[in-house]
Amino acid sequence: MTTGNVRPADMERITTPELAEKFIAEQVADLRAQIGDKKVLLALSGGVDSSVVAALLIKAVGQQLVSVHVNHGLLRKGEAEQVVEVFRNQLNANLIYVDATDRFLDKLAGVSDPERKRKIIGAEFINVFAEEAGKLNGISFLAQGTIYPDIIESDGVKSHHNVGGLPEGLQFELVEPIKLLFKDEVRVVGKALGLPDGMVFRQPFPGPGLGVRCLGAITRDRLEALRESDAILREEFAKNGLQGKVWQYFTVVPDFKSTGVKDGKRSWDWPVIIRAVNTRDAMTATVENIPFELLQHITNRIVTEVSGVNRVLYDLTPKPTGTIEWE
Ligand code: XMP
Repeated sequence: MTTGNVRPADMERITTPELAEKFIAEQVADLRAQIGDKKVLLALSGGVDSSVVAALLIKAVGQQLVSVHVNHGLLRKGEAEQVVEVFRNQLNANLIYVDATDRFLDKLAGVSDPERKRKIIGAEFINVFAEEAGKLNGISFLAQGTIYPDIIESDGVKSHHNVGGLPEGLQFELVEPIKLLFKDEVRVVGKALGLPDGMVFRQPFPGPGLGVRCLGAITRDRLEALRESDAILREEFAKNGLQGKVWQYFTVVPDFKSTGVKDGKRSWDWPVIIRAVNTRDAMTATVENIPFELLQHITNRIVTEVSGVNRVLYDLTPKPTGTIEWE
């Protein structure tokens, strides 16, 4: 059983389906031994880490796993639907889906400070999750998608996502089956578990989601413009072979407008900013050199298909001096 938090020096890197199968078989046996006939709770975001943990636990203990997917209203287009489709419909998981969009957006209304926005999203996430956990009986374990970089890196970017800090009475023993794995290994394991490529090779997505890309105080109409423009960008990147090649790419909608012309009339609309970067460890990043024709095509699609948008900009700034996200 993986008890310690230190990866043994002789632990083989999981690079092939065969090694992934071996890892899965060992983990399934360990999880069964640890959990017995008790119940496990998991906050399932739909990201690769929590999805792999869910799939491992479904294999090991089936219906004894209770997964909770909290939709904070700041997910990308189609994400919540994919979680329900894969886990409830295909893997027959015991999944509780909570649409908490209104709660989050009401709490965030009028809040423009990025750190306050993050804190509100993190705290509300714990509130919603704790409420759902409180409704359940007989939970003994809490599963988490902690991976090795979360343990060895001290900056803890994932803290917003994890459900540490649950109130008293909701403290469970932790189950962390992938805590000694690196991201590339998690993906190999996810593939071997049969998860769809869209989930396994998903680009990193911050815990506060689109909340940090809808700049300033979040409004529903700008959030919609952000979600739609991001979906177009992802679709075009996938079509043009950039998915899985570019490390992280997304759109940003700032909280200012500019003049434009649409249908022969003057418009007063938002710009959309495209960001596409490559990095090894997210500490520094370079900008992807996207073919100009593709940028023009994406621009054309965004300004014609997304309402409230009249301009598209491409962010040419590496990190440093820019961070990857805009907030
Ligand atoms: P920055 O913007 O600091 O981002 O260059 C580096 C990486 O971290 C992600 N990121 C976050 N992830 N919660 C997260 O879970 C956050 O609050 C957060 N802020 C940034 C960002 O998407 C990038 O991959």
